[in-house]
Amino acid sequence: MDSFFRLSIFCLFISLLPLFSSSALLFQGFNWESSKKGGWYNSLKNSIPDLANAGITHVWLPPPSQSVSPEGYLPGRLYDLDASKYGTKNELKSLIAAFHEKGIKCLADIVINHRTAERKDGRGIYCIFEGGTPDSRLDWGPSFICRDDTAYSDGTGNNDSGEGYEPAPDIDHLNPQVQRELSEWMNWLKSEVGFDGWRFDFVKGYAPSITKIYMEQTRPDFAVGEKWDSLSYENGKPNYNQDGHRGALVNWVESAGGAVTAFDFTTKGILQAAVQGELWRLIDPNGKPPGMIGVKPENAVTFIDNHDTGSTQRAWPFPSDKVMQGYAYILTHPGTPSIFYDHFFDWGLKEQIAKLSSIRVRNGINEKSSVKIMASEGDLYVAKIDNKIMVKIGPKMDLGNLIPSNLHVATSGQDYAVWE
Ligand SMILES: *[C@@H]1O[C@H](CO)[C@@H](O)[C@H](O)[C@H]1NC(C)=O
Repeated sequence: MDSFFRLSIFCLFISLLPLFSSSALLFQGFNWESSKKGGWYNSLKNSIPDLANAGITHVWLPPPSQSVSPEGYLPGRLYDLDASKYGTKNELKSLIAAFHEKGIKCLADIVINHRTAERKDGRGIYCIFEGGTPDSRLDWGPSFICRDDTAYSDGTGNNDSGEGYEPAPDIDHLNPQVQRELSEWMNWLKSEVGFDGWRFDFVKGYAPSITKIYMEQTRPDFAVGEKWDSLSYENGKPNYNQDGHRGALVNWVESAGGAVTAFDFTTKGILQAAVQGELWRLIDPNGKPPGMIGVKPENAVTFIDNHDTGSTQRAWPFPSDKVMQGYAYILTHPGTPSIFYDHFFDWGLKEQIAKLSSIRVRNGINEKSSVKIMASEGDLYVAKIDNKIMVKIGPKMDLGNLIPSNLHVATSGQDYAVWE
């Protein structure tokens, strides 16, 4: 009886653990060149100890399926994980198992807005899809393509519920068979391959109510969507007020059911303008952070760059000499921070980033932490988070008496410092 009682208490404790564990810290485990390196899954294994030391809880892996483009964003045979340029299905399973051993969960990059066809039909148009299995799962034809897809005009499905995508046929997600078979595939990625959650690619391509369906039918441990809209600009500069931009992210999250998170493109855009002598941008009229983290931080994933905005594509890069100021901001602020492979490994910022993340973990800073902004001038930003730590970014040296004398510097670098 006594041991049964102790076992019960132990089980209760274990089941409550997730409630007490510190919040998520994401890592993007690839860049635009990774598919060309050969054996990416195997080589990423060597990074696991460093990532565990930095407190990473979730790693975002590249799209796993056969794809016309080597990076994986033009997938076709979704069940075929052996034709990936990143490695084989067994190598992927082994990588995920190795992450799990260190308590790190893995997100699959889910590219489902569009899909490349395997063969032409009788009219010579590419619209015969194959799932990559001997049976008929995901074997589709023209009735699964949106009928208003202008680039692939042979579709006979419903009109697209979201934005069109030129390079490949847009899939009709209003079709219940599409919803069922894609959910089955994602659940197979969990049960057969070991994935724990999702990074949804190009969620603007279909309605948020569709994301809600996939969330409900697959119940991921963690999921984040890429809703990338342009900020509002005037004379080539972002406007101070980006409420419309962050409001659209919040609307998307809520319409998608509220469990999914969204990449905080608002914070990225404002922050990368702010670190160039315009740190006054980092406070909104309500005294809050001006990005999505100022309105719905629990659903915001903050980041500095990814495989599109940075890496070799450089579609919207953060100023490279100010990247650590960016990390000092996102790793001390609410939201779920995401660290990019390139910065951590290729740019030699591993130690500096890990110092910031350990301060975050040690002080229990999480996605819902409170922010009190103490200064927001052109060359100085100072904020207190959860009444536990303070962060300064910007070149200004004279902080007056903003930092109480009982605090001590926990880490510092070029134009940033954090006090505990
Ligand atoms: C579908 O889209 C086409 C082209 O944009 C449009 O003309 C048509 O009215 C739409 N059909 C429906 C049912 O909304």
